[in-house]
Amino acid sequence: MTITLKTLAQFKQQQEKIAVLTAYDAAFAHWCAQAGVEVLLVGDSLGMVVQGHSTTLPVTLEQMIYHTQMVVRGAGGRSWVVADMPFMADATVEQGLAAAQGLIQAGANMVKLEGGERVLPLVTRLAQLGVPVCGHLGLLPQRVLKVGYRSTDPAEALVEQAQALYQAGIDMLVLECVPETVAQTISRMLPIPVIGIGSGPDTDGQVLVLYDILGLTPGHTPSFSRNFLAGCDTIQCALQAYVQAVKSGAFPP
Ligand code: KIV
Repeated sequence: MTITLKTLAQFKQQQEKIAVLTAYDAAFAHWCAQAGVEVLLVGDSLGMVVQGHSTTLPVTLEQMIYHTQMVVRGAGGRSWVVADMPFMADATVEQGLAAAQGLIQAGANMVKLEGGERVLPLVTRLAQLGVPVCGHLGLLPQRVLKVGYRSTDPAEALVEQAQALYQAGIDMLVLECVPETVAQTISRMLPIPVIGIGSGPDTDGQVLVLYDILGLTPGHTPSFSRNFLAGCDTIQCALQAYVQAVKSGAFPP
């Protein structure tokens, strides 16, 4: 089954949960797609889990394009591929447009950018140009130097920003580490898929970092994640277990 924006919208309408994982290379993208992961996020988390940095800030646009090309090849058209705008690539509308061009021409189906009000002019322009956009609110890893790894916006601000992003033209929204009740409110309010990470069970889908669910992340793994390889003999089994757990609503508990 080919995943499109229309398919994703239908999942939401039919209340079928959407399974999302990060992916950074062709082999993992292949097996994720094979397991039924509908959306693959080429996250700038690759700076931490693949490159070994302590933040996502060192990741460059060129690196994002390189990893996006690999993931697109591995996914083989079976999953919807979202590519992250790396740190400062969206500092101005012009820079953001050039970055989106690079990521879409690398084969991504959608670009994701962190933030609310700051990114509205870029989201509007991308939507006008026909580029699918995913918003990202709550914990914003690219703001770590300023605020650390936490969501600082109060509930009302998150709801307002989600609405503003939707009106500007986003087609999907990631909510990272926002209170469950806020995630539920935003998911019910918006007609587009809302994907949660560490934001409770009441979003339209879930995303986790691939290396976390395979128990490969050295050191600290977020408490909201789960090692799906435990109880499985193969990576393929773990990926299927993740998809099944998201689809059935068993994850997150
Ligand atoms: O970069 C990333 O992997 C992400 C997810 C954690 C949502 O943005």
